Amino acid sequence: MPDAGLAADGSIDYFNEWYPVSFTKDLDKSKPHRFVLLDIPLVIWWDPNAKAWRVFEDVCPHRLVPLSEGRVNQAGMLECGYHGWAFSASGRCEVVPQQGKRDTPRACATAYHAAERQGLLFVLPKPLPPALLTKGGTNPDLAAALAMAVAEEARIPLVPELEEPGGKWLSQDVWRDLPYDWSTLMENVLDSSHVPFTHHVSMSNRNVIGAYDLKLTTPLTEEGFDGLWKTGPRAGKLGPQSTTFKAPCFMKHRLDAKGFASLTVVYAVPMRPGKCRLINRNVLRFGNPVPELIFNLLPPWWWHVSSNVLLEDDQVFLHLGEEELARRRANGLSHSQVCYMPSTADTYVVAFNRWLQRFGGGGPFGGADTQFVEALGARLSRQQLLDRYSQHTESCASCQQGLRQIAAVRGAAAAVRTLAGALAIFCAAVAVAAAAVGAPAAALGSLAAPPPAGVLGVLGSALVRCAEAVAGPLDPSGAGQMLRAAAWAALAAGAAAAVAALEGLRQRFYEGVYPPPRNVSAKD
Ligand code: FES
Ligand SMILES: [Fe+2]
Repeated sequence: MPDAGLAADGSIDYFNEWYPVSFTKDLDKSKPHRFVLLDIPLVIWWDPNAKAWRVFEDVCPHRLVPLSEGRVNQAGMLECGYHGWAFSASGRCEVVPQQGKRDTPRACATAYHAAERQGLLFVLPKPLPPALLTKGGTNPDLAAALAMAVAEEARIPLVPELEEPGGKWLSQDVWRDLPYDWSTLMENVLDSSHVPFTHHVSMSNRNVIGAYDLKLTTPLTEEGFDGLWKTGPRAGKLGPQSTTFKAPCFMKHRLDAKGFASLTVVYAVPMRPGKCRLINRNVLRFGNPVPELIFNLLPPWWWHVSSNVLLEDDQVFLHLGEEELARRRANGLSHSQVCYMPSTADTYVVAFNRWLQRFGGGGPFGGADTQFVEALGARLSRQQLLDRYSQHTESCASCQQGLRQIAAVRGAAAAVRTLAGALAIFCAAVAVAAAAVGAPAAALGSLAAPPPAGVLGVLGSALVRCAEAVAGPLDPSGAGQMLRAAAWAALAAGAAAAVAALEGLRQRFYEGVYPPPRNVSAKD
């Protein structure tokens, strides 16, 4: 039986494959989101009635504006921001305010099959059958369409290990919209030999290189391939690493080392030519509970922010390199004709490109030709390439929450800095005055003298008590107050350091740094 994802000519039908579009924990349920998959603009929105994510084409059937600029209304329908047409879960138009009633099927939004699995929202980018637009459960077309929908969901590319009961796998989840093609990303993550060099300092070491004895362990088919790197990373210190490429967008490395096991899972999601969404899960299983405890304490945004340097290690050269590759291939040359790959280190890169040529039709956007080169567009500036905010933070609910938390803590730290600084100055002034005059009464002036009676007296006593609480018991030498001044100054300095550190952390949500750590490291 042919694979459901294959076109009639045996090559893959990219529009009949499931793609993850987002971690659901990073989606804000209060508003619609735009995402482009295979050049199709999509709107992702939370249906509060069914408590499920919905995915439509991001185009209003009335006058074609993006539905993602609208809202989810009180009735739990997606409402266009232009004239208020409202659409229910299946895409059916329920409200045309200008007519007072819903309109014909032509008024429907195009709905896509979406399913949440393993914390990811997956989309099948072919429109739902019209039968699913019909309400009620007796329509035989509807029953058939629903049965087909269930069968379709069995093809979602999942991480099998995360399905193991009691598997104790922990997933560190990261995503970013990258300024290069999904095929460039897939090549990059299949290519383990770049890691010690590209990611020297940030995660690896270019001085620890072992054999790159990579081999395919299964034949190359339309479904992908498996492979084994017998020596494995860190010059073999961690043991062999196995790899799976499941066409078209899933890749997994697995390493079973002493004390831990790790999976590096990447979904390379094609957005448009030269642009993809990386969805990355670093899945770990530890031999003892301490790392697990620490792992669970960290918020999702921490992993997002921490992954940026690593991603930016490759960002500039992959963006520039893929254009060079496409230009050279536009003359009709194959990948292996324009790239020279004599070593077994490139086994998976070669295999992936063979898959792309034999079964992948060159890619969803038509492969390397002059049109593809044109579609890649002008190269971005370095500043644009390192723009973390537009490539991730702006659309990530977890990072937006992180920014709010950081702003709140930073505000509190700034207040402590100001207050403690003022108190340090006050204590120092009291100490200097006490030492100069040699008597506490003189040091604190009338505040330290017996208070007058009445309201002024009460106020005066309160002020003296406050002053003592801040500056310590009155001390004729001024030494006690000076000690307090030093303590307040230390607190102010600590708070100032916290403000600076939090500002540095906030900055990490916005822009990357250049040059990459490997090029500025003093270590060889
Ligand atoms: S364009 Fe959407 S309601 Fe008019
Ligand atoms: Fe994030």
